[in-house]
Amino acid sequence: MISGRTELFGIIGNPVRHSLSPAMHNAAFRELGLDCVYVPLATDDIAAGVAGIKALGFSGASVTVPYKQDVIALVDELDPTAARIGAVNTLVIREDGPDSGGRTICGYNTDWLGANRALAGKIDLAGTRVLVLGAGGSARAIGLGLLKAGAEIVLANRTLAKGQALAHELGCPCHGLDELGQVSADVLVNTTSVGMEPDSGATPIRGDLLARFKVVMDIVYAPLETRLLREAAEAGCQTVNGLAMLLYQGAAQFKLWTGREAPVNVMRQALSSRFQQSER
Ligand code: ATR
Repeated sequence: MISGRTELFGIIGNPVRHSLSPAMHNAAFRELGLDCVYVPLATDDIAAGVAGIKALGFSGASVTVPYKQDVIALVDELDPTAARIGAVNTLVIREDGPDSGGRTICGYNTDWLGANRALAGKIDLAGTRVLVLGAGGSARAIGLGLLKAGAEIVLANRTLAKGQALAHELGCPCHGLDELGQVSADVLVNTTSVGMEPDSGATPIRGDLLARFKVVMDIVYAPLETRLLREAAEAGCQTVNGLAMLLYQGAAQFKLWTGREAPVNVMRQALSSRFQQSER
């Protein structure tokens, strides 16, 4: 539904042409009969992009690669968890009230919420030991989120010094990828890009080490079933693919923007069918 009063949302990044978020959010708006639309907003100037959506009356936006860090300096208010993570993936733009006429941009991070909810469908995170592979921005967001959920985390990273720096910040141990045989945990989360197309024959951990985990999650969603997830399923683990995190971080955005519970089944369906189209 589009009208003279349609509320505007979008995804700011570069590139955003292949983003699955428009399909997911527009399906959710349609399902609830909301007069809202969500569009791709590619820009090579994040400051101009944020000023633009503010000036044009957008109600909110997703922020993606490469701007999740740079956008922090551009928001008026920053959610404390997003500040700790050091990345914003969601903007909420509020009218300041009838007298001021101004607008306030608030920055949030829903990636950690997405990861937690995706895992919570398989296992109770409180008191659970989780091995997180990687030490980049995704590992920081997911690691902090897992700690908030009461999990105990262990990091492992290719570049040990980088892993140790994040581990120090999170207050957890860190190993090299060559030491994974000695690490025990209930859950494994891959936050590295290993296994992503076109390198889908790669995997971050040997298949014979997977049987010890109850649940294995991969944030890579192209391909949908990475070699890691295929070998984990063969080893008897429950698996969580990268679309689950994408879905639930989007559901958390939807709640922030509309105040309504997101229709996750419709959103999942939209993601899957868009995904299958792009596979062809
Ligand atoms: P993101 O923001 O998505 O987390 P990032 O900050 O670039 O991305 O981090 C990428 C992570 O994937 C890092 O932990 C990186 O390991 P290094 O710190 O050693 O670079 C990891 N990674 C990327 N390619 C890898 C590979 N081929 N083997 C092992 N780890 C890899």
